[in-house]
Amino acid sequence: MKNLISMRDVSKEDILELLDLAAKIENKEVHPDLSGKLGALLFFEPSTRTHFSFDTAIKKLGGQSFSMSGTSSTSVKKGETLADTLMTISQYADFIVMRHKIEGAARFAAETVDIPVINAGDGTNQHPTQAMLDLYSIKKTQGTLENLTIAMIGDLRLGRTVHSLAQALSEFNPTFYFASPRHLQMPQYIKDELTAKGVRFEEVEDIHPIMPHLDIMYVTRIQKERFAVLEDYEKVKDAYIVTPELLEEVKENFKLLHPLPRVNEITTEVDKTPYAYYFQQAKNGVFMRQAIITKLMNLI
Ligand code: CP
Repeated sequence: MKNLISMRDVSKEDILELLDLAAKIENKEVHPDLSGKLGALLFFEPSTRTHFSFDTAIKKLGGQSFSMSGTSSTSVKKGETLADTLMTISQYADFIVMRHKIEGAARFAAETVDIPVINAGDGTNQHPTQAMLDLYSIKKTQGTLENLTIAMIGDLRLGRTVHSLAQALSEFNPTFYFASPRHLQMPQYIKDELTAKGVRFEEVEDIHPIMPHLDIMYVTRIQKERFAVLEDYEKVKDAYIVTPELLEEVKENFKLLHPLPRVNEITTEVDKTPYAYYFQQAKNGVFMRQAIITKLMNLI
C-alpha cells in the first residue's frame, strides 16, 4: 500500500493488519515514530472529524503538519490547477491527506505526485479512512466483523461513507439492510459488486420490522450540499429519525453508528442510551488514522 484511495484497492489482509495495528497503537503496545516527517492536510471541502483527527494522529505519532481549509487564502483563487497545487505541496510534505468535492480527485492526486496520498473523501465516491475506523468501531463493539447484520440508513447515494463501508464489510459475510428515501438509494454499481460477491442485501422502506435483528445500524445525514434543488432536500430531510422509542426492541449488543456530522437524524435523547456509539467512533478515528499513516509511511 503506497496510497489509500478506495476500499476497492484494500484486501481483507490489509484490513485485518490495519485493525490489529490500530488496536496495538490504542493499547500502547507499539510506538511508531513519525518525527522528522510532515503531513499536508488539504481540505478543499469542510471537515471537522477527518481534518482534526488526522492532525491529532500526526502529532501523536511525533510528526508535524500543515493545513488548508478551503481555498480562499490559496493560489487556487488565482486559477492554479489542482495538479500544480499538488506538485507544489509535494515539494514540501512527505505525504498528503486530501478531501475534494470531485469524484476521482484523490486518484488523480496519487497519479500526480510521488509521495503517499490518503483520500479523506472525494465527492460522493469514497471515504476509505472513515470505513476503516467504522470497521474498527464495529470490531470493538461486536468482538468480530464476521456474519453481522447491518442496516445502513439515510442518504446512501450521495453519502460516500456507506459506499466504502459496504465494500469493506463485503469481505466479512454480512447481511445488509439498506433504507433510504427514493432517489437516494445505494448506487447500482455498489449493489452489483455485492451481488457478484454473494453478499445478502435487502432494500427496505420501513425500518421498524428489522430493528430486533440488527447488530449495527449505520445512520447517515442527507447530504444537503449535494442537492441541486433545495426543495428536493426539504422533501426527504426528515425521512428517517432515530429516537429512543425506535430502539426499544434492539438486541443487547446493538450499536448505533454515524460518521457525523448529524443534523437531526438521531435525536440527542438517543445519546444517553447504551446503544449510541458515534462519539467513541469519532475517537477511534485517531487510532485508525495513526495506523494508516504508520503503514503508508512504513514506520514499523
Ligand atoms: N465523518 C466525517 O467525514 O466527518 P467530517 O466531515 O467532519 O470530517
